[in-house]
Parts: sequence; C-alpha cells; structure tokens
Amino acid sequence: MELGIKGKKALVLGASQGMGKAIARTLAAEGCDLIVGSRNEEALNKLASDIKKDFNVDVISHVIDMTDFAGVDAVCEKTRTEWQPDILLNNTGGPPGSKATGVSDEIWRDAIQSLLIGVIRISEAALEAMKSRAWGRILTIASSGVIQPIPALPISNTVRSGIVGFSKSLSNEVAGDGITANIILPGRIDTDRTKWLDKSNAEKSGKTVAEIQAVSKATIPAGRYGTVEEFADVAVFLLSERASYVTGSMIRVDGGAIKSV
Ligand SMILES: NC(=O)c1ccc[n+]([C@@H]2O[C@H](COP(=O)([O-])OP(=O)(O)OC[C@H]3O[C@@H](n4cnc5c(N)ncnc54)[C@H](OP(=O)(O)O)[C@@H]3O)[C@@H](O)[C@H]2O)c1
Repeated sequence: MELGIKGKKALVLGASQGMGKAIARTLAAEGCDLIVGSRNEEALNKLASDIKKDFNVDVISHVIDMTDFAGVDAVCEKTRTEWQPDILLNNTGGPPGSKATGVSDEIWRDAIQSLLIGVIRISEAALEAMKSRAWGRILTIASSGVIQPIPALPISNTVRSGIVGFSKSLSNEVAGDGITANIILPGRIDTDRTKWLDKSNAEKSGKTVAEIQAVSKATIPAGRYGTVEEFADVAVFLLSERASYVTGSMIRVDGGAIKSV
C-alpha cells in the first residue's frame, strides 16, 4: 500500500530510542523529511546521520527536555516559523512508578508539563501550517493505562487521561481542515523502558527478570511483547494519507492485553 506521505515533513518527539525512534525510521522509509527531538544529543545526532544515510531524506535534530517550559516554548517557536511540519508525533518518557498518594508536587508537575501542557502547546504550534495546507496528522503516544489503569503507574494513568480528552476535543475542531488527531495505546512493547520496568520489578520482588516477564506475557493473549516495528507500522499508517478518515480515536497496539472491548 502506498501511504502517500513522501516529501511530507514530520516532527517526531521522544525520537532517540524505543517507539519514537522506530516511528522516525519508518516515516523516513516512506520518504518523509524529519525533525527529531529528545534530550540525548549524541543519540539524536547518531539517529539523524543513520537515517540520512539509510533513507536519503533531510533530518534536523533538536535537543528538548519536555519537562522544561522554556525548551517547549523554543520548540513551539521553531515549529511555527521554521519547521512547519505536516505530521506531529507526540512522545516523551513515561513518569516513574509510585502509589497514587504521597507523590511530590515536583513529580506531578514534571508529568503534567511533559505529557500534557507540552503536548498541547506543540500541537497548537504545529496546527498553524497544517491548517494553511488543509492537511495534517497529529498522533500522541499514551498507554493502555488510560483504558485499564496500570496499578504501579498512577501518575501515567492520571495525566495521560488528560491528553486523551485534549486529543478528542481537538479532533472535533480540526477535522474540517483535513487534520486528524488520534491517540495510540501501547500495551507491552519491547523497548528499553519495558526492560527497565521488568528489571526494577524483579529487584523489588526478589524474582528473576525471566520470571517477571513470564507473568507479564501470560496476561497478553498474543503471549509476547510487541516489537517497536509492529508499533511503528500502525503509527505510521495513522500518520499517513491513507488514514484520512480516522480521527478522534484511540488505537490499541497491545496484542489483546486490554481486557475490555
Ligand atoms: N514500551 C511500552 O510497552 C509502553 C507501554 C505503555 C506506555 N509507554 C509509554 O510510551 C512512551 C514511549 O515508550 P518507550 O518504551 O519507547 O520509551 P523509552 O524507550 O524510554 O523512550 C522514551 C523516549 O522519550 C525521550 N524522553 C524521555 N524523557 C524525555 C524528556 N523529559 N524530554 C524529552 N524527551 C524525553 C527519550 O529520549 P532522551 O532520553 O534522549 O530524552 C526517548 O527517546 C513513554 O511515555 C512510555 O511511558 C510505553
């Protein structure tokens, strides 16, 4: 299937590793020019040079910490004036595990800034050029926890539910401009974050990582974690011309892990 996005420009956040990196590479494989952002300058520069070599597209790398108001403002300014992307992939790191209570204001603020306010502001900035072209795609990575809250991740469950409300509200306002806004929900995708979570659960419970993973995989009907490539294929379809009638939706990529329909 021809996805119809060759030559489009995509701003991909949280791009240095994991699902963001896989989405950046898959967009480049479809012929998109890229702006890739996250905190790790070295990893971003390596990604940019690998992508240029592998896919012969233009790539700009930009260091951003989504918890930093000024950094987000700078990205908004560049998004409006220089980058003017057709496609926006909102992604950043997940908040730490905790109980629902006893979390410091600082941790709540960082999560709200990076997963909610930053996403809202950057989406607004990207919309300007999208509206003028009557074409745009905004996709935000959230988590299965917005449908089936994950016990150890109440900060994620709480703050990501807010961005779901924003994305749906936004989709209603911009559908007539040829712009879609959707949420994509990873279940358990095999990335560095998943490896880290499994390791820290193993340490806390005195079990081995293999034992933790076996319990986790037993809850997934597919019986395994998803790969970043499987996730990126769905994301890039949603970011493509072909997904023009999909908006205001939450799409699960979870191997059936979420128990409800
Ligand atoms: N993997 C899963 O199964 C799963 C399931 C549910 C939800 N999620 C969520 O989906 C998102 C992506 O997951 P992943 O597994 O791909 O995570 P990952 O491997 O940890 O990658 C996260 C990406 O976000 C960037 N990032 C982290 N903190 C940032 C910050 N403060 N500002 C800007 N960029 C930042 C990281 O790069 P730098 O270090 O360079 O900044 C990295 O590129 C996360 O929010 C995660 O919580 C993942």
